[in-house]
Amino acid sequence: MAARTAGERGSRVAITGAAGSLAGDILPGLRARGHRIVGIDRLDRPATAATEGVEWLRCDLGEADRLREAFTGCDAVVHLAGIPLESDWATISRVNIDGTQAVLEAARLTGAGRVVLASSIHAAGFAAVPEDGTPVPDDVPARPNTFYGVSKAALEALGSLYHDRYGLDVVCLRIASRFARPQGERMLATWLSPPDAVRLVDAALRTEAPGFRIVWGVSRNTRGYFSRAGGDAIGFRPEDDAEAYAEELLARAERDPSRSAADWDRRYLGGVFSSPEPPMFECSKDKGAAAPPQSPPSQPRRV
Ligand SMILES: NC(=O)c1ccc[n+]([C@@H]2O[C@H](COP(=O)([O-])OP(=O)(O)OC[C@H]3O[C@@H](n4cnc5c(N)ncnc54)[C@H](O)[C@@H]3O)[C@@H](O)[C@H]2O)c1
Repeated sequence: MAARTAGERGSRVAITGAAGSLAGDILPGLRARGHRIVGIDRLDRPATAATEGVEWLRCDLGEADRLREAFTGCDAVVHLAGIPLESDWATISRVNIDGTQAVLEAARLTGAGRVVLASSIHAAGFAAVPEDGTPVPDDVPARPNTFYGVSKAALEALGSLYHDRYGLDVVCLRIASRFARPQGERMLATWLSPPDAVRLVDAALRTEAPGFRIVWGVSRNTRGYFSRAGGDAIGFRPEDDAEAYAEELLARAERDPSRSAADWDRRYLGGVFSSPEPPMFECSKDKGAAAPPQSPPSQPRRV
């Protein structure tokens, strides 16, 4: 089937993981920018303002026929569904790797010309924090720090395959720390604000003929050590800077007697995810369902 292109005002976009936290941040902004949204999740539509006006299809990533039904007539797919923290290999590989392949295959079969994939900083979580401030390239080679990170490296590899073999435009977003406000010292470099998350996904949907690309998902942080080349190339213009929170966060870090997390933060891009005890995702009995993620006490949920 001939691929359609995305990006023009009024494009129809399928978003997987539409009941999730990141989707809740970006759905209203994407709609305000003219995108018509088909929300897909294994959960029912949450009764929140974020999903108002969104078409909804309850569908598990493992249901190939329903995924194709959901993508039919869409110009692009934004794939957010998945396990967002560390988990056991069986769950991670089924949901994050098999699920991504299913999404790309359904996009290919239905002619959605573009797929935006939610990757993660943890695909390269064991890459070193640059001591001299040299920006880390958008496509720094994968050095996953967890099974979760491996699944995101695999997601990028699958995106590359579907571009090279089938010609899909695929933009992988290496999202760092998406929070309403930065949660600690490390996030002075790694923070992605919710408004910048909207700008990022919108740019990935609108840019012309991106081919296959990997782009850092971070705000315009004064202390950031991430290349902006990939973002510039797709027209991503972040506006927020974690520096506005620096005084408060640095004072809090001074008062905190336990600086062990900060050691990981200084060494590796993935921070505490690169430690022997990364934050774990607690699944419900039915693995892959969205139970609230749990972090060890005193650690932020996602860093
Ligand atoms: N939020 C961040 O800071 C951040 C950082 C890096 C990467 N990411 C990535 O962004 C994506 C979204 O993250 P989030 O924070 O919104 O996570 P989330 O857990 O809040 O949302 C994930 C959604 O996926 C759905 N889902 C899970 N398994 C499914 C399945 N088998 N079939 C259909 N739907 C399924 C869940 O029901 C949930 O609504 C994830 O892929 C995550 O790895 C997020």
